[in-house]
Order: sequence, then C-alpha cells, then structure tokens
Amino acid sequence: MFKLLTCFFMFWVGSSADQYTNPIALKAPDPWMVYYNGYYYLVATTWSNDIGIRKASKLSGLKDVENTVVHTIDGRVMWAPEIHLIDGRWYLFYCACAADTEGNRCHRNHVVQSASDDPMGPYTFMADFVDDTNDVEELDPSYIIINDQQYLLGSYFGKTQNLYIRPMANPYTPTGPKYLLSSPTYDWEKEGSTVNEGPEPLYHDGRVFVVYSASACRTANYTLGLLEFVGTDPLNSTHWEKYPEPVFQRSEENHVYGPGHNGFFKSPRWNGGLDRLPRQLG
Ligand SMILES: *[C@@H]1O[C@H](CO)[C@@H](O)[C@H](O)[C@H]1NC(C)=O
Ligand SMILES: *[C@@H]1O[C@H](CO)[C@@H](O)[C@H](O)[C@H]1NC(C)=O
Repeated sequence: MFKLLTCFFMFWVGSSADQYTNPIALKAPDPWMVYYNGYYYLVATTWSNDIGIRKASKLSGLKDVENTVVHTIDGRVMWAPEIHLIDGRWYLFYCACAADTEGNRCHRNHVVQSASDDPMGPYTFMADFVDDTNDVEELDPSYIIINDQQYLLGSYFGKTQNLYIRPMANPYTPTGPKYLLSSPTYDWEKEGSTVNEGPEPLYHDGRVFVVYSASACRTANYTLGLLEFVGTDPLNSTHWEKYPEPVFQRSEENHVYGPGHNGFFKSPRWNGGLDRLPRQLG
C-alpha cells in the first residue's frame, strides 16, 4: 500500500515577481501548472473520480479559487494529472483505477482531449494506455517530444518502480510497448522504497532532460533526480545519462522536506535564464 501513496509534498520553481507565499494552493499534491493566454492553470491529484482545474490570473490567486471539474472519470482514485498543448488542443493525462478493479496496483494511464485550445475543456475521453505486452500498474503519465517524435512517459512496477517511455503516433495512439527508461540505482533513489516516478520533460538549448522523483514519497527524503538524453534512441535507456546526485533534495536549513513530483512552467516574466537550475546544466 505504501508504494501506492502519491505525494503530498509540493514544490515549485517559480518567479518571485508576483507576491505569492508557499504553499500557493492547498490540497494540490502532484501539482502541474501551465501559463497560457494570461492565466495560470493548476491541476493536481484529487484521489476521487473528478479531475479539476484551478484558473487564476495571478499565481497568488490560485489559493482562493475552487477546482472546476472538467472531467469525471469512469473509475476512481485519480492521481497525477497533467495538461499538455499539442497541435492546438490540450491533452489531459492522468492515472486512475478502472471502476471495476479493487485493491492495489490497479492504476493505469489515460488521456482526455479538449474540444479547443481552452484548457478548461470540455474534454472527451480518448484512450486507456494498457500495455498488453506488460500489463502492470502504471502511473504518473507525462509527454515528451524528441526530434519531432512523440513519447508517453510514466512509472511502472517491475522488480522495482521504474520509469518508462513509450512511442506514440499522437497523444492517444501508442505505436509500441513501453520501454524501460530508468530504474533506481543510487542510495538516494531507494530511501523508504526503491522508486523512480513522476517523470517530467525539460528542454533547454537543444538539450532534452527528464526530471523525476526518487525514493518513497511519504518520506522527507523524497527527491528529484535528472536524466539527460545523450544518444540517438530515446527508447534505449543506455542513451540516457543519469546524474549521480539529486538536483533538488531535502534541506533542513531551508525547511524543504520531500521535494518531489514536480512540474515546470514558464513564467510570463521568464527571460531565458535558468539560473536556478543545477550547475551541471551549464
Ligand atoms: C534522509 O535524509 C536525512 C538528512 O539528509 C539523513 O540523515 C537520513 O539518513 C536519510 N535517510 C532516511 C531513510 O531517512
Ligand atoms: C542500446 O544502445 C546500446 C548502445 O548504443 C546498444 O549496444 C544496444 O544494442 C541498444 N539496444 C537496443 C535494444 O537497441
């Protein structure tokens, strides 16, 4: 059961321009945010069958707005939603258990599609991403585009909890099974549980990274690690390099505990700099 607990800690890399204070929103585990046409949109785990979005013109306004339900799933225990704008529509990826499954390890990844470029929907159900060649629990879906090819990212249960990457024709059509992207190897990926989850794409200067969460999300040592695509085949895990140290981690001094399951968004005031990212990124 513990392995299935999703993450209650939230952590943001944000601009300091707006006068916000942390936490920027309550009851928002596994946060994912975008800034689009003048508004911030925040989605987060609800543990129910509703997927909601909070919309505000300022970061500090997110605290006061209600979740607007944009989709009610045929299932339960919704975790880790993310919205991605691809070819003019929003794709809302999430994981949930089918209505007729009970017990542990019932999560699978799914996607719904918006009718227009409005992140508030309405959304239409498009796909269950069940992998018939390896049907195990999958969670934490995300999406990455590398050299014009699209891929679904996620976490799954093998001998340990790993990251996967799966080739896609479009956000709702897989063209093959999932491939192993990363397994926990360092001690800092094994505290409490042996876990890699919450993969998030990050692009900079033509380089492609995946930031992911490691160790047990219920512990203060839940942490963020980094992969960089260094080869030619994204489906081959040896073409990704794992950085030996976490990129964000617990800090007693700064009162930061369990920084994990993050998201990235570009601030409207973003100036092209990434001075808060780790030194290794140059
Ligand atoms: C977690 O981090 C703390 C402080 O950084 C460390 O002392 C501890 O050994 C780590 N591991 C566990 C399992 O708590
Ligand atoms: C993965 O990449 C390595 C290094 O390029 C190569 O030796 C290996 O054959 C590749 N594996 C697959 C399944 O393509």
